Amino acid sequence: MRVVVLGAAAGGGFPQWNSNAPACRRARSGDAAAKPRTQASLAVSADNRSWFLLNAAPDLAAQILATPCFWPSEGLRSSPIAGVVVTGGDVDAIAGLLTMRERHGFTLYATPEVLRVIAENSIFRVLAPDCVERRALPLDEPVALLDAKGHASGLTVTGFTVPGKVALWLEPEGRDPGVVEGGHTIGLELRETGSGARFCFIPGCAAMTPALRKRLGGAPLVFFDGTLWRDDEMIRMGVGAKTGQRMGHMSMSGEAGAIAAFRDLGVGRKVFIHVNNTNPVLLEDSPERAEAEAAGWTIAHDGMELTL
Ligand code: MLT
Ligand code: MN
Repeated sequence: MRVVVLGAAAGGGFPQWNSNAPACRRARSGDAAAKPRTQASLAVSADNRSWFLLNAAPDLAAQILATPCFWPSEGLRSSPIAGVVVTGGDVDAIAGLLTMRERHGFTLYATPEVLRVIAENSIFRVLAPDCVERRALPLDEPVALLDAKGHASGLTVTGFTVPGKVALWLEPEGRDPGVVEGGHTIGLELRETGSGARFCFIPGCAAMTPALRKRLGGAPLVFFDGTLWRDDEMIRMGVGAKTGQRMGHMSMSGEAGAIAAFRDLGVGRKVFIHVNNTNPVLLEDSPERAEAEAAGWTIAHDGMELTL
């Protein structure tokens, strides 16, 4: 099974278009220790021919352009992208679907809740139903990933709930919707049927729960929510009023953070993804980057590739 990181940053990307903060300035200036990153998405394949995206980021067109194996190679119109599985309804997880509107047949997998908000939002009608098949993803049950013609890909996906939040654009006005566990934010476990190789992708998670500990214990590879280094990072930097918790993300550092939560989980390879432009781990010369790496974490970067 091949896994390609199409994008490693959180919503907004790195540098974020309207950020003049020092880290984004470094990324814009070509500083080798502040590599730009597009918004979080993975691509997975068992056969090197058909690929499934895990989230469709707003940067999808640029991500495809940067990765020759996703270029069309058959006939006048084609794509090796056979399907998309989304982990929620956030802009950074679904906006790339609009890029895929040119009558290419693919399968869209999401929870019934997320399929409903996509169906209610008429702009997504550009994904013509006779081309793009919507399939509801049940929870805690492996589902064979199929292309638009119903061909098996050699991959299964299992969706599972994690503590999270409804998408920002679905929040009730002026009210904190709070962290819940339901069908709006999920994690995914991908498995290659033939070899049994597997990994988890959890780009948004507000807390480690006993059920999640159990699921992740001993996993060979986990891509995990790396949005913030500390919960009040955006407030301290003067760029926003929200904590990570308010946005549905647990931080990397601290007692309730991901680095501590994973310490005794026995995960083979731990990779932070969905890293916000305010997170100092994006800077390769920062003490926070050194601390995360010393704890056994890799900070995902665009173009990173893993074979399982
Ligand atoms: C998040 O991960 O919190 C969201 O992507 C925020 C957003 O939609 O900008
Ligand atoms: Mn996001």
